[in-house]
Formats: sequence, C-alpha cells, structure tokens
Amino acid sequence: MRPLVLRRCLSTKHDFSVTPTTFNYRLPSRDYPYDCVLSPFSPFTPVFSNLSTHPLDKSTPSQFFDSFPLTNSHRLKKNDQRPTKVKMLASDFIEDSLYNPNYGYFPTQAEIFQTEKPFDYSKLKDSDEFMDKWQEQYSRYSGNGAQLQLWHTPTELFQPFYGEAIARYLLVNYKLNLYPYADLIIYEIGGGNGTLMMNILDYIKKNDPDVYSRTKYRIIEITKPLSEKQKLRSLHRKLSSKGHSPDAVQIINKSILDWDEVVPEPCFVIGMEVLDNLSHDVVKYDVHTGKPYQGYVVIDAKGDFHQFFTDELEEWTKLYLELRGNHHLQSSPWKMLLNDEQIHPLNSLPVIPKLQNYLSPFKNSLTESEFVPTSLLKLFNVLSTFFPEHQLLLADFDSLSETSRGFNAPVVQTMLDSKMATASTFMVHQGYFDIMFPTDFKVSKDIYVQMTGKLVETTKHEEFLNTWGDVEATRTKNGENLMLELYQNAAFLHS
Ligand SMILES: C[S@@+](CC[C@H](N)C(=O)[O-])C[C@H]1O[C@@H](n2cnc3c(N)ncnc32)[C@H](O)[C@@H]1O
Repeated sequence: MRPLVLRRCLSTKHDFSVTPTTFNYRLPSRDYPYDCVLSPFSPFTPVFSNLSTHPLDKSTPSQFFDSFPLTNSHRLKKNDQRPTKVKMLASDFIEDSLYNPNYGYFPTQAEIFQTEKPFDYSKLKDSDEFMDKWQEQYSRYSGNGAQLQLWHTPTELFQPFYGEAIARYLLVNYKLNLYPYADLIIYEIGGGNGTLMMNILDYIKKNDPDVYSRTKYRIIEITKPLSEKQKLRSLHRKLSSKGHSPDAVQIINKSILDWDEVVPEPCFVIGMEVLDNLSHDVVKYDVHTGKPYQGYVVIDAKGDFHQFFTDELEEWTKLYLELRGNHHLQSSPWKMLLNDEQIHPLNSLPVIPKLQNYLSPFKNSLTESEFVPTSLLKLFNVLSTFFPEHQLLLADFDSLSETSRGFNAPVVQTMLDSKMATASTFMVHQGYFDIMFPTDFKVSKDIYVQMTGKLVETTKHEEFLNTWGDVEATRTKNGENLMLELYQNAAFLHS
C-alpha cells in the first residue's frame, strides 16, 4: 500500500503505476471482435479486471480511441505547447518529438560537437590521448551549466579527413560518370554545422580547380539555426576566408521529406547521420495469425500517453511490409539466440509469445513491437520522384546498443545531471530525448533498388574509409587508426 499512498501524495494527476507500454490496447476488427482493455483469452484476466485505477476512464478501447481527433506532425508544427486530447501515428509522435519548431529536440536541445581545430593524429600517442584531448574540448560546452545535448559525428571528430574521403569518392565518381558533360552538383541532407561542406569544397578546390569552378553545393537542413542569419553570416565569412565564393553554396531550410521540386540535372545526394533520426512506425503482430497491426499514440487530457493498435495499416507501413520481403525470416531463431542477435517477432519460437500472452492479459495477443522505417521509404520516394538523375551516398549506424524495447528499436536518451540516461520507450516527454534508430543496410539497399530502379552498394564504415580515406593522416603514433576503428557499427549506402 505504501507506494500507492506516496504516489497519491506526489501527484493526483498521473497514474505512475501504468506506463505507456503497460497495455496493448487493441481495436476490434472482423478477425478480433473483442473491445476490451484486457485479453479475453488469459486465465489471469479476472485477477486484473477490478483494477483500482482504470486508464481509459471506464471506456472500451474503441470508445476511448474514437473520442480523440487524429492529428499529425505537420499540423502540430504551429503548436507552441505539447498537445493533449489527440491521437496520431507513432511516426508522427516521433517526428513531432524530434522536430517540432517550438519544443522539438532538434530545434531546442541539440548541438553538434565541433573541435576548435582538427586533431593532429600523427602527434597523438594513442587512443587514450585522443580521448583526453576530446574531453578537454568538451569543457568549452559545459561552462554555461546548460544540459546541452552534444552529438559527436565522424564528420566533426575526424575533420577534415572524413570530409576529404567523401570528396575523393565524389570526385572519382563524377569524373567517371559525368565529367565534362555536367557540373558537379552536391545536395547534402542535414548539413549540421556545415563542416562536411567546407571540407569537401576545400579538397576539390585544392585537388581539382577545374572541377571546383563548376561545383555547386546545396544543403537541405530541417533545423533553423544553420539557416539563421547570424550563423549564416559566420559560415559565409568562413567560406570567404578559405577562398570559396558564397554563391557556390545555398542553404535550403526544409525537410528533405517535404521536397517538391524536380531537379533534372545529374547530382549527388549525400547525408551523414541523417537516417538515424528519421521517424519510424510501430507494428505488432497477432501472436496466433501473424497479422500486422499499426501502432498509434493517444495523448489524453492529462498529457498521458497510451498505445493503440489497429489492423488498418497506413499506406507507407503497408508498402514497407510488402517491399522488405522475407528479410526478417532469413535466419534461424536458434542461430540468432546463440549469436545474441535480435529476433524478429514473427521469427521467434512461436511458443514464446503465445506463453507471454497467456500469462499477461495486458498484451492482448500482440507480439513485441517492430519499428519500421516509413520515413526512409518517403526519402527514397522523394529521391526517385524529384532527383531522377541522382547518385546516392548515405552513412549511418547499422546497430546501436542500449536500445529501447522492440525489434529495430531506437535508443531513447537524454542528459540528466550531466549523465546520459536512456528510456525504455519512445513515448516520453516530447523534445527532451534524442530518438535514434539503427539502419538495416541490407533491407534499405533492397528497398532503394525496388523504389528507384537504381543500383546501390552497402559497405562497412571501416572498409569505405580504408578505400577512400587518408589512413596515414589519421594514424596515431602507436599505429591505431581511430577514424577506422571508432565507428565499427556504421556503414555506407552508395550508388
Ligand atoms: C546528427 S546530425 C548530423 C549532421 C552532419 N551531417 C554531420 O555529420 O555532422 C543530423 C542532421 O540532419 C538534420 N536533419 C534531420 N532530419 C532531416 C530532414 N528530414 N531533412 C533535412 N535535414 C534533416 C538535423 O537537423 C541535423 O542537422
């Protein structure tokens, strides 16, 4: 009883004994005509049916779900407060949490770590000394006491060498496929601090002045700061000081997913660490039939989150499930258990989800969640529709540790008292957390080919940089190569 009393003392507004993932609220359908909070098939349902608190205010799941209007992240952009009394797709909840201009994570919390000047690897003894230098640079950010969310990207940590590797790749492919018939036009999605652009332009200017004179660089950036006047002026000053004409560079403040203009010329579309923050949808499967269910988030009048599932699939989710084929069923569950690999909910030994559902009436005969990359499909659709002559170069994480629950689940993390804290679900206070997904490069490759009709390759970070990077310049005195070794869980997709 004590925790309950304490909880009541702390707040009468929220019921902290129920989390957003405690219940799988399932909407009735032809195959599943039950409209109940607890599973009708578990022998333990009567034990829980007289709950002292009822999260849906005594309504059935469908009554509760139908009582809220449907919204999406586009409509929520004009909200300066987090919404209540609405429902939305899980992907809209994630998109709103990350990108809402007024309370979203990217516009209000995040900053990309930038070294004052590049590390001189040849003068560093080993990786320990590199880590010490890195920590020293951190003090510049921690001085103001703010709970700043700092990202580290290979672009920034290994500048200018990482950017130079990308530039070498672009130059060779441009020379092979397009020169001298077309200019070198580069669209960078998510340009961050503009460091990659600077490093690429510097490299081309130094190594191929002829190509440089016909290079145009365009950054498509969803977050405002880079496109704000002050930052833009400082970027232009930096460009001029390095002998670049600011006219060769254009910053376009919009999401790549909202792109609506055809670019008929051949071009390169590149993006480093952009895929991991593309929103995903949530799918669960019926444990008996394997039928997929689409996940929605309902935000009630108190601002509490509830997850609902319906067998009416949204069109991008449906398309993803069609295009990914049988990738998720290819490995044997036994082998995956032995290798500590993630097992897809439809590939697990059937007895496990059935038993879990028998024992827990809260699950409503639905499996663990799978996170499906619906925004990645939207990105490939934009590329296929509006950039018909593009060549692609994307880099990102192919696996992540400390993820939340589910298959292909994100890491949900924030800084608390200068320490990184992770959450077990993406349904957390919007804008306070980074929500970061791993990318399945094999599946992405297959889907890209199907959607664009273009060929594409995937290569691990180390192999790509071994081929295109200056591996001597990034080696420490004891022979370690941090640019190759630090990002073992990253890969490239390149056409
Ligand atoms: C992790 S940062 C990486 C920045 C930079 N590419 C680097 O490697 O340092 C991701 C960047 O992508 C931008 N971004 C995320 N989603 C985007 C979208 N849909 N369209 C355009 N930019 C996006 C973010 O604002 C951010 O600047």
